[in-house]
Amino acid sequence: ELTPIDRAKFVAAKQATEYLESGMKVGLGTGSTAAWFAQCVGELVREEGLDVTCVATSKETAMLAQQIGLKTVALEEVKWLDLTVDGADEVDESLALIKGGGGALLREKIVATASERMIVIADASKSVADLGKFPLPVEVVPFGVAVTKNLISEMLNSMDVLGREITLRMQGDEPFVTDEGNFILDLHLRHIGAPRQLGLVLNQIPGVVENGLFIDICDMAIVGHGDGKVTVRD
Ligand code: A5P
Repeated sequence: ELTPIDRAKFVAAKQATEYLESGMKVGLGTGSTAAWFAQCVGELVREEGLDVTCVATSKETAMLAQQIGLKTVALEEVKWLDLTVDGADEVDESLALIKGGGGALLREKIVATASERMIVIADASKSVADLGKFPLPVEVVPFGVAVTKNLISEMLNSMDVLGREITLRMQGDEPFVTDEGNFILDLHLRHIGAPRQLGLVLNQIPGVVENGLFIDICDMAIVGHGDGKVTVRD
């Protein structure tokens, strides 16, 4: 028996499989919701002969896809994708997202933007009126991380945000390291008034590799509820 939160993630994932067709090249997202989608795809492959070629958005997802028995290739082999289905940490009314809670935002953004269509699947707790309650992950190169942090701090003073705190993401006693060998700074902004502008300005800072704001990338959000209902926004 599934908990309400897992049921919500599962029904959203299941609904997303409606958009799959044999022959498609499909990006597999990262995180617990995206894992449900990978399981659902696996079932369709085994039981209904669905034929899809998958690209993983993280090492974690690549391992999961292998366990499930999904055919995966490197992004370089296919160059573009028909569809990517991924989770999110927040999704607003205009389908702007915060991603990167799992630390995979860079590969996720590369895969999503290489896709004809991106569908976000989420439980209702991820659906928000305004972005920013969830700390915004920013992937930075390890070299000069303290300097990069200061530059972001200064930059935030001129932006439409409420919070200013920035923390280096840790794993035990060491900084968390992404699949691309970088660090993550989490920006505790509480409210982001102008996400598009913030995303652009962050990426102007030399030590910043990418930020977790996904603007004009997501085409549809499928939100699952604990009672098994789904709402679709596009
Ligand atoms: C991974 O880097 C994130 O962007 C995930 O998509 C996000 O954290 C959602 O994860 P859950 O589905 O586990 O909440």
